[in-house]
Amino acid sequence: MALTKSIHGEWSSRFAYILAATGSAVGLGNIWKFPYITGENGGGAFVIVYLACVVAIGIPIMIAESMMGRRGRQSPVNTLVTLSEEAGANKNWHFLGWMGVIAGILILSYYSVIAGWASAYVFKAIFGGFSSDATVIKATFDELMASPVQLVFWHTVFMVATMSVVMRGVKSGLERAVQLLMPTLFALLIILVGYAMTTGEAYFKGLSFLFSPDFSEIDGDAVLTAMGHAFFTLGLGMGAIMVYGSYLPSGISIAKTSLYIAGADTIVALLAGIAIFPLVFANGLEPGAGPGLIFQTLPIAFGNMTGGWLFGILFFVLLVFAALTSAISLIEPVVAWLVENKEFTRVKASIISGIATWTLGVSVALSFNVLSDFKMFDKTIFDLLDYLTANLMLPIGGFCIAIYAGWIMQKKHVREELDLPEQQFKLWEVLVCYIAPGAVFLVLLDVIGIL
Ligand code: TRP
Repeated sequence: MALTKSIHGEWSSRFAYILAATGSAVGLGNIWKFPYITGENGGGAFVIVYLACVVAIGIPIMIAESMMGRRGRQSPVNTLVTLSEEAGANKNWHFLGWMGVIAGILILSYYSVIAGWASAYVFKAIFGGFSSDATVIKATFDELMASPVQLVFWHTVFMVATMSVVMRGVKSGLERAVQLLMPTLFALLIILVGYAMTTGEAYFKGLSFLFSPDFSEIDGDAVLTAMGHAFFTLGLGMGAIMVYGSYLPSGISIAKTSLYIAGADTIVALLAGIAIFPLVFANGLEPGAGPGLIFQTLPIAFGNMTGGWLFGILFFVLLVFAALTSAISLIEPVVAWLVENKEFTRVKASIISGIATWTLGVSVALSFNVLSDFKMFDKTIFDLLDYLTANLMLPIGGFCIAIYAGWIMQKKHVREELDLPEQQFKLWEVLVCYIAPGAVFLVLLDVIGIL
């Protein structure tokens, strides 16, 4: 009794799906998070571990997760119920859907705060322009962090924007927005890379920081961060791509689209790194400056280059939109479940899940100032949520997805859904049954201290 169509609607074409899923993948993870965690973890070697995780773990799990979504055609919780009936497996597998729902809310609560920083920078760009002096730019950032009112205000603006797109449903809200924004963001990144090239020697220092590996910089925690980031940046492990897959019409190749999405996501992250690190070195900044890194570097470029005022505005506007198209996928599993099981309208479902997420987000905003001394496990609320979700929940979720697709589902159903030539299917099977779950398992064991 497999459904042939989702009750929530379908993407209008293969291209629309690729855009939406790329919209989910490309976001703050690429432009804000990738550079700063690369900086904190010593550069090149970290980048190599991250790339290896994308290829050996991320892509096979992306194929698995979207395949499960298309076969189940419902919110992740109900998809797992349906698939488990079909496979004759234990119904309790729907816990995986629940873990995803919770992870989505936790991630969005801090994601929205950071997207709020980017929104605040749109206004700084419009009204002040940016100084060309790195110290002034750092002071501007510190001032924003110190202001609970501004942080909560911008977090609220971003949450309202997100929920008003989600209310309208994935298709009309999302498809059109992404079509225009993604290519423009890409063009702007190229311009920033062009600017980075004008920094002379620093440009080469930046490149060498990013691409020449020094493996002595890497320990178990760095590997966990790189692996967690592979999940985060591709939007895997919590049902986001599963729910997007559930809106995917039959007959479209899941493997091919996954490769495009992962490829585009990786290119954007690398471009961001190439644009940012030369500025770090040219201005004597710290690569390990933390979450403020892009806000303390890119404005320098905008302050210096011709047309920088306009580019600065455009860049932060696009960053906010890239964050928006990601945020939507984080909350969609919750909204779809509320519509399916509680018979809420999309509007009501969006408002309720939005308010819950917003409330948690307020505590994240405050963790940068008034609550900065409130720590658990030596981490602020922001750090804790980031670590818990990106480094633990997403890899554990991804591990379970790999096991489910590789070992629990019936092969004939998987083959039918993926529709791959035999050799390619076999390759994917090895990756999803052994390599991906094995690698995640080993890294987690290492971090717990068992290995
Ligand atoms: N991939 C997005 C980014 O890099 C964030 C994101 C969207 C995400 N959907 C997700 C992360 C699902 C984890 C799970 O900014």
